[in-house]
Amino acid sequence: MTLDIAAIRSHFPALQQPAIFLDNPGGTQIARQSLERIHTYLTRTNANHGGEFATSRASDATIDAARAAMADFLNASRPEEIVFGPNMTSLTFNLSRALARTFQPGDLLVVTHLDHDANISPWLSVVIEPGGQKGSFICITATPWEWKNVPPFSPPAT
Ligand SMILES: Cc1ncc(COP(=O)(O)O)c(C=O)c1O
Repeated sequence: MTLDIAAIRSHFPALQQPAIFLDNPGGTQIARQSLERIHTYLTRTNANHGGEFATSRASDATIDAARAAMADFLNASRPEEIVFGPNMTSLTFNLSRALARTFQPGDLLVVTHLDHDANISPWLSVVIEPGGQKGSFICITATPWEWKNVPPFSPPAT
């Protein structure tokens, strides 16, 4: 199958200018269809969730449909598995705080320098911040090529 690059580019308004976007995730370009949906949402149904009024119901329906579409796209079992948030960093901070409640002394958290800092700082914070479980710790491998030298994980004696 040959991709029609010109057709694909035509869906991205930001690519209709003579600029090169070198910042990939943080500068992700948005397709026209998504921009139009965001515009429609903000101009017609922007409302608090769970309300008993028309715009709130319409807002909830839009979000429900988006979760269902994303669940289908990601092959998730249920739309409830899909969580939208402000950005990946904030969501990972939320996840690390939630999981930190279940940490036991001796649990091992592993992050690597292969990860973006957005997947390192949230985990460091739950170990270092007051309330972090004593005994849990993080192992950071220094470089990708050291990864193969990391021994099989076994919790340290506490
Ligand atoms: C590879 C990578 N992962 C994660 C992030 C964090 O994403 P967000 O801005 O959604 O928190 C970035 C940000 O640019 C990134 O480049």
